[in-house]
Parts: sequence; structure tokens; C-alpha cells
Amino acid sequence: MTTYTSSWIRAYTNIALIKYWGKADEALKLPKNNSISLTLDGFYTDTLVQFDSRFTADTLTIDGQEQRGAALKKAKIILDLVREIADIDLKAKITSLNYVPTAAGLASSASGLAALAGAASNALELKLSDAELSRLARRGSGSASRSIFGGFVEWEKGDSDVTSVAKQLDSASWDIGMLFIILDSRQKAVSSSEGMSRTVATSVFYPAWLETIEWDLADMRQAITDQNIQQVGEIAERNALKMHGTNLGANPPFTYWSADSLRAMEQVRQLRQEGYTVYFTMDAGPNVKLIGTSQELKEIKERLSKYYDPAQLILAQPGPGLTVLPEHVHTD
Ligand code: ADP
Ligand code: DP6
Ligand code: CO
Repeated sequence: MTTYTSSWIRAYTNIALIKYWGKADEALKLPKNNSISLTLDGFYTDTLVQFDSRFTADTLTIDGQEQRGAALKKAKIILDLVREIADIDLKAKITSLNYVPTAAGLASSASGLAALAGAASNALELKLSDAELSRLARRGSGSASRSIFGGFVEWEKGDSDVTSVAKQLDSASWDIGMLFIILDSRQKAVSSSEGMSRTVATSVFYPAWLETIEWDLADMRQAITDQNIQQVGEIAERNALKMHGTNLGANPPFTYWSADSLRAMEQVRQLRQEGYTVYFTMDAGPNVKLIGTSQELKEIKERLSKYYDPAQLILAQPGPGLTVLPEHVHTD
């Protein structure tokens, strides 16, 4: 009998300021463009992987629910890769807890697959470097490559499995945060993967996205270096709007926006008129994320509480990279 002892691993979600939207290689998850994100402390996934010769199949539970379809398939990609590195063929049991709504545009695939990459590698005592973990996580979900690191992170698109990897740009130990407006935490109709592949294949606006991305990336790197929250916000907002524009040019066209999203975006513009330095970004879902200083976001949360339930408004600060949890946090 072969048993490994393994630890629970925590990965925090990240929200892109310059979006990853489109794959150059579907199987390896090589993106069409670099992306830049901020890892946040507000939402995360805890995962434990156990390899055991007594298991007869790979299993995955998320929040106690056994997963079978696409989620298990994605998890197996990571398991197969670590089994190959360790040169073993044991089956694994994955136990995962999402402290983030699953598949709602709140980046559960980023924290979920990063935590899985960390936990699978931990379970087999692989001692992978952060860059190797980033590449491993990428094979499960592109955005997960960035959740290995804390603070501001850039995912270098690269042109091969080895060169497509994320790295920390800045530890974000300055005053920047996000306020999440949770408008709908149900599973979205069009997954990120499906949305981006339809857009790459059919959107008449997609070439314009690629033609202008280098400017957005350069401007964002500069804004982060300058710790200029207004610039970070302006560039992130225009990049997000451009990404969502490409979806409208797809065939068939689609959007992740709801009427509530539009209302929230309008509220942000109104707050700017009143003098707040606040901007928004949105991902593959209807929820809206505000970017600002912690003091202003705290005030804004207060102001918005007349439109939303307390549970819909969640403040987040920059978060750390992959973390090994002390044993007493989870017991089974
Ligand atoms: P999101 O906006 O939440 O990232 P995606 O469509 O990108 O939505 O990804 C959601 C998918 O990520 C889920 O359907 C599941 O396959 C996978 N996923 C989410 N959480 C976990 C987890 N904790 N462990 C393994 N896979 C997960
Ligand atoms: C809009 O990483 O979820 O959030 O690689 O297919 O799993 P897959 O997609 P995913 O896409 C994230 C898209 C985005 C932008 C971003 O996070 O950069
Ligand atoms: Co995702």
C-alpha cells in the first residue's frame, strides 16, 4: 500500500486588470495576449489531494458535491501531469472548498485550479518552483497561472508550454483594493472557455483587441510602477469594456452583462462625477468589481448599501500567493 501525507493548500482568486481573452493553443492553454491581474484576499479555494493505492478512480468534490463532467476532466489534466512528473499511476481523491461562488465570473477557476496544482504537487512532494506551479495551474485554467503569486501579476503569453508563465510584477503593498458587487452568483450560461473561443473564431472586433493590447499592457505596467490608482483604474476600465465589446461582435453575439451590471457601471460613473477616484472592471459574468483606495471603497460601500444587501458588497485587499495551511484548519 502506498500512502502519501498531504496538506491543504489555499489559493486566492485574482481579477485581471488587463484581460486574458482568447487562446492561441486550446490544449496547452497558451493565450493570445499577456494579461495583468491583482490577487485578492477576499475569495479563495482550499484543496486537499490524496493519492492512495486503494483508490480505483480519480474523484473530485467541491463543497461536498461530487463532480463528474467538465470539472473532473479539468482536474484530471493536472493529476495526469503530476503523475507523469512523479512517474506513478496512483488514483487521487480531491477535496475542495470554494470560498468563492463557482462559475459566476468571480474567478473560481483561477483559485480552484491554482489550489489544485499546489495541492497535487504537495501530495507527491514534487517541490516545484513557483514558475513550474504557474505552468501546471495554467493547464487547468489560464487565469489560474496568475493565482500562484500575490499582488500584481503578469502572465507572459509565451509560445510554448515552458515559456507561458506568470510572474509577480509588484507586491501591491500600497493602497489599492476592490469592492465586489455581487449581482448574480449563479453559474453563467457561457463559460469563459466557450466565450473566448467563440470570440476568437468569429468576432469582427477581435483583431482590434489584439492590435491595441500592447498599449494597454505598457500603460498598465507604468501605472503600477507609479502606484497611480487613477491610471490603473482608467486603463483597467477601458480594457474591460473593450473585451466585452469583442463579445458583441461574435457570431452568434453574446454578452455577460445584465441590466443590473449596467446600473452598477452607471453608479460608478456617478461616483466619479462626485469626485471619487473609482473605476470598474468585469469578467465573464454579470458581477461588477470596483477599483479604488481602501478608504474611498469603504465610503462607497456605505453609499451603495441603500441599493444592495450587505452580502452583495464585498471589500477585498491585495492577497498573497499559494499558501500551505496549518493542519488544524481542516480536518476530515
Ligand atoms: P469562473 O468565473 O468561476 O472562473 P469558469 O467558467 O472560468 O468560471 O470556471 C468554472 C469552472 O472551474 C468550474 O465549472 C469547475 O470546472 C472549475 N472549478 C471551480 N472551482 C474549482 C475547484 N475548487 N476545484 C476544481 N475545479 C474548480
Ligand atoms: C474574463 O481562465 O476562466 O476572467 O483558461 O478557459 O479556464 P480558461 O478560462 P479562464 O478565463 C478568464 C477570463 C477572464 C479574464 C481574465 O481573468 O484574465
Ligand atoms: Co475562470
